Amino acid sequence: MYQLIRSFLFTQDAEWSHDVTIKSLKKTGGTPLEFLYSQNIPDAPVELFGLKFKNPVGLAAGLDKNGECIDAFAAMGFGFIEVGTVTPKPQAGNDKPRIFRLPNAQAIINRMGFNNKGVDYLVEQVKNSKYDGILGINIGKNKDTPNEEGKNDYLICLNKVYQYASYVTVNISSPNTPGLRSLQYGEALDDLLGAIKTRQLELAEEHGKYVPILVKIAPDMDETEVEQVAESLISNKIDGVIATNTTLEREKVKHLTHGEEAGGLSGVPVRAQSTKVIKLLKQHLDGKMPIVGVGGINSSESANEKLSSGADLVQVYTGFIYRGPELVKEIVSGLETQA
Ligand SMILES: Cc1cc2nc3c(=O)[nH]c(=O)nc-3n(C[C@H](O)[C@H](O)[C@H](O)COP(=O)(O)O)c2cc1C
Repeated sequence: MYQLIRSFLFTQDAEWSHDVTIKSLKKTGGTPLEFLYSQNIPDAPVELFGLKFKNPVGLAAGLDKNGECIDAFAAMGFGFIEVGTVTPKPQAGNDKPRIFRLPNAQAIINRMGFNNKGVDYLVEQVKNSKYDGILGINIGKNKDTPNEEGKNDYLICLNKVYQYASYVTVNISSPNTPGLRSLQYGEALDDLLGAIKTRQLELAEEHGKYVPILVKIAPDMDETEVEQVAESLISNKIDGVIATNTTLEREKVKHLTHGEEAGGLSGVPVRAQSTKVIKLLKQHLDGKMPIVGVGGINSSESANEKLSSGADLVQVYTGFIYRGPELVKEIVSGLETQA
């Protein structure tokens, strides 16, 4: 069924297809029409961060930026769902076109630029959903907030989403917000993570509930940079890390139509790079926090590669666009740990 829908959608503009899909899922999620995409997935429970995941396959951030389709994605059997990236104020994002399919490489290039309806709208969506599984809320900063004040944007979002999230992801790795990735390095990183940790502990007291903080990083780092990030995550007592976001690399796609569009490249071409970062993190974190592996997963085999390289959970985005809900079932059914 998805293959049929996909073959139509892929003849249309990528962002139009995305918007139509999100609108349809928003309308049908939580209603009897869910039968169109709901599926039964075998149980494959994982316990991490003090949270119980019904399986280790999650929806990556960016697909449901405003949290409008949580019930629909839950019906597809995801073990956890991450919504966002959300910013304090609504923002339009970059000019269109800003998302491109590269079907021959099973890839996407996007330069959306955190288009979203703002944190207050997202919180309302979360409150209205029926979902009681694991929900991650991914937070970022507005484009017009100077980097030196970026910390405040993360704190505003953290305060607002804290009580509604199972975990909160601090996204410092989008390539489409100018300067954002500089927050991944040196003093800027320690300063941001220190402030977030302090606020997390205060909020835990206020709400009587400890919500883990995860940090999402880019694949475009060498070993020294990964090691430094790992040290900062450990010293600031961050709960987990998500590796990785999209890449600025173009080597594998530059010969293809749209291959040199600006933005972040995702899907099959980022797979090896993201697995490499996971392996380095595994080595430098020394088991001190769980790793969520994401980047180029489009099959059971590529998911197992992430898990055997050090990831404890996985997430999918581009593979899901190409394969549909069936991908979730295939990965869960093919988990090596189940064999
Ligand atoms: C169109 C698009 C929009 C995205 N938006 C976000 C976002 O808002 N926040 C975020 O943390 N990651 C975002 N991502 C990155 C994905 O969550 C994921 O980390 C990356 O695409 C690698 O995984 P994949 O190869 O399975 O797509 C986006 C990816 C795509 C393709």
